[in-house]
Amino acid sequence: MFMKILTDPTERHKLIFNVISPIYASLDGLVKKGHEKAIQNIVNVLTLKGKTVLDIGTGAGAWGALLAENGAKVHGVDFAESMLKQASRLYGDKMTFSKANAMNMPQFKDGSFDMVTASFVLHGFRFPKRDAILREMHRISKDVIFVNDYYGPTPIVGRFLEFLEGSDYKTFKKTFVDELKQYFQEVMVCRAGPGQAVYFASKTEGRFNGKHCIKERFV
Ligand SMILES: C[S@@+](CC[C@H](N)C(=O)[O-])C[C@H]1O[C@@H](n2cnc3c(N)ncnc32)[C@H](O)[C@@H]1O
Repeated sequence: MFMKILTDPTERHKLIFNVISPIYASLDGLVKKGHEKAIQNIVNVLTLKGKTVLDIGTGAGAWGALLAENGAKVHGVDFAESMLKQASRLYGDKMTFSKANAMNMPQFKDGSFDMVTASFVLHGFRFPKRDAILREMHRISKDVIFVNDYYGPTPIVGRFLEFLEGSDYKTFKKTFVDELKQYFQEVMVCRAGPGQAVYFASKTEGRFNGKHCIKERFV
């Protein structure tokens, strides 16, 4: 196990999130506050009421819970058991949870959720792992996915955390729109706070015609 953690970046990633889960849960109010602008964009662009949403890398549940509070029926998955424990404790009354590795989720059939989302997960992985997650998101969603993640200059706290995590956030910011365009017909990117954006992607051409970001549209 110890060797696996040393040699396998995914296992290292999982260990980090298992270890920090109580800290993450204790900062839940702050995390939710940080998601506010992103959620405002989402309710402006999409109808959540009654829609099924799969939240990948749900963590302590803040992102999924905000979607549930706006009317979506949310199921959250994470590969870190301790994160899922915190999420169930905090939001077990609002959404359901199960354990899954986002790179391979055969338990979810093609098109089995109206929408699939991930918040601050995808920047963590390099190709081909990020591509495997994106392929699963595309397969499981009926039409739309939305991703809340880094865009543009990253504030110093973010840069420090990503340095510690050894993430791929710099490349992610440069290439993610093109990565989305390989799978989806339509992509729209809305500013969601300092260094952050919501990436909307749809299998249907023209899906975001007449839709507007609450502030600035990047793409
Ligand atoms: C930075 S946290 C984000 C939590 C939450 N989405 C939010 O925005 O509040 C990233 C989460 O993704 C999970 N995660 C990372 N890679 C994953 C994978 N391959 N499969 C499932 N969960 C993953 C981690 O365990 C962690 O809980």
